[in-house]
Amino acid sequence: MPHPLEQLRDEALRQIESATDEQALETTRVKYLGRSGSISSWGEKMKALAKEEKPVVGKLLNEVRNAVTAAIETRNAQFHLQRESGALAKIDISLPGTPHEIGSLHPLHQMHERGIQIFRRMGFALAEGPDVETEWYCFDALNTPPDHPARNEQDTFYLSDGRLLRTHTSTVQIRAMESAPPPLRVIASGAAYRRDEVDATHSAQFHQIEGLYVDENVSVADLKGELEFFMRELFGPGTDVQFRPHYFPFTEPSLEVYVRSKALKRGEQWIEVAGCGMVHPAVFEAVNKARDDKAYDPEKWSGYAFGLGMDRLAMILFDIPDIRLFAQNDLRFLRQFG
Ligand code: DAH
Repeated sequence: MPHPLEQLRDEALRQIESATDEQALETTRVKYLGRSGSISSWGEKMKALAKEEKPVVGKLLNEVRNAVTAAIETRNAQFHLQRESGALAKIDISLPGTPHEIGSLHPLHQMHERGIQIFRRMGFALAEGPDVETEWYCFDALNTPPDHPARNEQDTFYLSDGRLLRTHTSTVQIRAMESAPPPLRVIASGAAYRRDEVDATHSAQFHQIEGLYVDENVSVADLKGELEFFMRELFGPGTDVQFRPHYFPFTEPSLEVYVRSKALKRGEQWIEVAGCGMVHPAVFEAVNKARDDKAYDPEKWSGYAFGLGMDRLAMILFDIPDIRLFAQNDLRFLRQFG
């Protein structure tokens, strides 16, 4: 005559074997092994047993509990496997897969990388600043008076809190000088915003590479030589560079930079690509005021600065006829730069 615990075990094992799904299996588990399950309740019954019987039945109880637990685990694993192979069976592995399209860098991004690469070789470090700026960084510190037309709401995007979208990357000049004393040699690449009428050559968002070099005895000759070098690295040795007098509040003298290159489609034509000049002493003084020191003493230090129109450079380099193409996200356009 088998012990009642052994009978319980055999009964449990039969039910586990015949359980048709995970839910039925769980019901069986609770029935035998749950807190008041019929196997578990033997723990309580043991107390009433004679002293010499206890170890024998205790051992049996352990064996039964282990056997039933193991059987439940095995059955659970079977259900799990069935579910997985059921899902797999619906997949036809002989079908061709879904191809992943390989993207490429946006032409403006490629332009940015090329520009930065050349300037890094020339010893410039990367600086940066935010697109949302204060009037201080965009205008005041750059010697631009309150009545200057660039500060007009017709020309600049203002936020309701008085901040604005930077109209040029020259803001980073001020940020760089505020955070480090001279000598300084930095470039910054990023977006700028103006309320321009949008057409083939104007966009409300455009991109610039800003440059700033401050040291003792920096001259216009340094400025011209370095920008000429940059243009020839970018457009090839047959590139002519021309500097024409201009006006910017933050430089004196100020110049505009034009290029012409036989290697390019628009070979014979001079194209304006940058503004530049020698940093105005008033800019150094504004930085000193913000720094609360005399680090940028205009008697001791001089500097040049420039702002390159990246969209323009990319349009020349890749022969792109319309600036709006950069932002239209047309794959037929973008794929040509893969
Ligand atoms: N910030 C000027 C613009 O966007 C370009 C420029 C001119 C930048 C002269 C400079 C500079 O750093 O020195 O039109």
